[in-house]
Amino acid sequence: MSTLSEAKSSSFSVKSLYSDYCKDMETYIMFRISARVVELTPSLEAKGLPPIKMSIGAPTVEPPKALMDYFVKCLSEPAIHTYSVPKGEKFLLDAIAQRMKSRFGVDVNPSTEITSLLGSKEGLANMFRAIITPRLDKKQRDIILTPDPGYASYVDAIEVVGGLSYPTPLTLENNYLPDMDAAVAALKADGLDPARIKAVIINYPSNPIGACAPFEYYEQVVDFAKRHNILLISDVAYSEMYFDGQEAPHSILEVPGAKDLAVEFHSFSKPYAMTGWRIGFAVGNADAVGILAKMKGTMDSGIFRAIQKAAAFALGSPECDAYIRECNMMYAENQKIMLAGFKRLGWPIEQLNPPKATFYLWLPIPRNYTSCEKFSADVLEQAGVVLVPGTAFGKTGEGFVRLSLVNPKHELEEVISRFEQKGFVY
Ligand SMILES: Cc1ncc(COP(=O)(O)O)c(C=O)c1O
Repeated sequence: MSTLSEAKSSSFSVKSLYSDYCKDMETYIMFRISARVVELTPSLEAKGLPPIKMSIGAPTVEPPKALMDYFVKCLSEPAIHTYSVPKGEKFLLDAIAQRMKSRFGVDVNPSTEITSLLGSKEGLANMFRAIITPRLDKKQRDIILTPDPGYASYVDAIEVVGGLSYPTPLTLENNYLPDMDAAVAALKADGLDPARIKAVIINYPSNPIGACAPFEYYEQVVDFAKRHNILLISDVAYSEMYFDGQEAPHSILEVPGAKDLAVEFHSFSKPYAMTGWRIGFAVGNADAVGILAKMKGTMDSGIFRAIQKAAAFALGSPECDAYIRECNMMYAENQKIMLAGFKRLGWPIEQLNPPKATFYLWLPIPRNYTSCEKFSADVLEQAGVVLVPGTAFGKTGEGFVRLSLVNPKHELEEVISRFEQKGFVY
């Protein structure tokens, strides 16, 4: 009889140890796109078409100077380099509570209703893990309703912990405000049990569309979550990135009673161009925040204290507020350039309802294409322009591509000119 170790060593591969949930896991879509671009770069450069990445969901400008200067000063403070606490230092939690009050008029208790995060992506993934009991059988899985098209990490992070994401479609027809009751009816028709729904996610201003939600929609979704006794997860990573003349996006916590069931995820990444710093926060329902903080206590030891200091500084800094306004003006200007360019190429810009927030542009593919992946592949290979196919964000994204308008103006103009030269018209 062979020993366990002999049996293992004959055909052993670490892959055989992967969990049922991880074994089929794909590399995150944005990293797959980056890898493809790296592969094609030498041949594109040889053709005089160095890749222009319209695919990056991150600002390309530097963070506010005042913030960087403050951060550097913090580096020499006593005990700054020691471990922090997973939930975040008191000075940061207090600064967040003050900001929630000044920006949204919402009162939150910094010691029970806020936790810092290593970026909102980490917080969202841990929130899913906290409420999903892993199951193999798809019909038996805990369900989270997710925006479709929506931030690709939702689906991946739900499914890798043995949950099921069920799409709530955002379309031009529903003004990008999905009817949640219709989604439950569709889920039932698909043979799934609505009693298994544990949470619903909303994300406004939205990635990839840049859509905003009126306050009444927030009220409706709170009512929906109350009727179903589920957690309401609001992702407001882009809450500060809105254009002049547009109503400032709301917090779900402004809805009376929302704290009974809602938790909101905020990010420092996009408004302050701090994507690499990895800092965000969750705020709202004390049980949701509490379980997140408890989970984080077993998985990470908190954020570098100098980063927390800089984040607290940003929240209370008029220079940083002015920086956000300037960036938003730049994104609005970039959008104008691209809309004018795509209009010249035949795109029906008037019918598109262009975003009034974020730095994204959600564009239909030309009429002679039926697949957004084929269109994106052709544009990359023939024009060296990197787009994200709409299906990267869910099935409802077929027929569209996402562009991030974070590039310098000469690159934006170059994109339009390459489209024209290579015959990519609507
Ligand atoms: C909608 C949305 N939520 C959350 C995140 C994650 O942001 P971070 O983890 O940098 O805070 C992103 C990043 O692209 C996003 O688009």
